[in-house]
Amino acid sequence: MTNIVILTGAGISAESGISTFRDEGGLWANHRIEDVATPEGFERDPKLVVDFYNERRAQAATSAPNPAHDALARLEAEHKGDLLLVTQNVDDLHERGGSNHVLHMHGALNSALCASCEHRWPAPMKMAVGDACPNCAAPMARPDIVWFGEMPYQMDRIERALAQADLFVAIGTSGNVYPAAGFVQMAAHYGAHTIELNLEPSAVVSQFAETRFGKAGETVPAWVAEVLEI
Ligand code: APR
Repeated sequence: MTNIVILTGAGISAESGISTFRDEGGLWANHRIEDVATPEGFERDPKLVVDFYNERRAQAATSAPNPAHDALARLEAEHKGDLLLVTQNVDDLHERGGSNHVLHMHGALNSALCASCEHRWPAPMKMAVGDACPNCAAPMARPDIVWFGEMPYQMDRIERALAQADLFVAIGTSGNVYPAAGFVQMAAHYGAHTIELNLEPSAVVSQFAETRFGKAGETVPAWVAEVLEI
């Protein structure tokens, strides 16, 4: 039975119209990471940060899953072995494409977090600075996003899955941000076959046993069909 771990990045949502980070005109071309994606930035100007994620939540709400999301949902439904879908993305296109078990290691736009009691609840479309926590009532709501310098979610679960994986597939990620960029090395160390499905070579392309270049909307359905032998 083949145990599969999949890691997706912004590239899988690009054909759904959601900006990536490091492509031409990407999010980091128009915003400074230190201003909108760090705890210090939130401390310095919480309204700038809350508005940044309100914009991204609105953009995600007007986008639709593409054939790559649909194909991964089909894989989840039909694959006989274990499958862990880890995404660095904070949009909910995997879920809206039919995937039921998605691990958002960098958090999610549709979740809000209390900076005081760590309670989580469904985020409103528009969050405001000082929103009260429904659990402890402190005015400490923040976007439930893992910022630079913070620990990604469920790393022990991810590492356990990588240690058991027969196959590790990275889709639409530039391999610039750790710990995610190090998953391929970990999977290969434990003997997994590794495949990169990307528009262009990532920063860690040399660590993959196999690479297929192209748009995720084409390469992912083709690869899933192979895995399901249909
Ligand atoms: N199909 C497949 N791959 C694509 C497509 C597409 N249609 N369009 C772009 N790509 C690829 C690009 O070639 C690039 O390698 O997707 C990758 C996007 O890279 P980034 O913008 O760096 O996004 P990502 O790798 O997900 O960033 C990782 O960085 O800023 C942090 O927390 C943020 O989760 C994010 C993390």
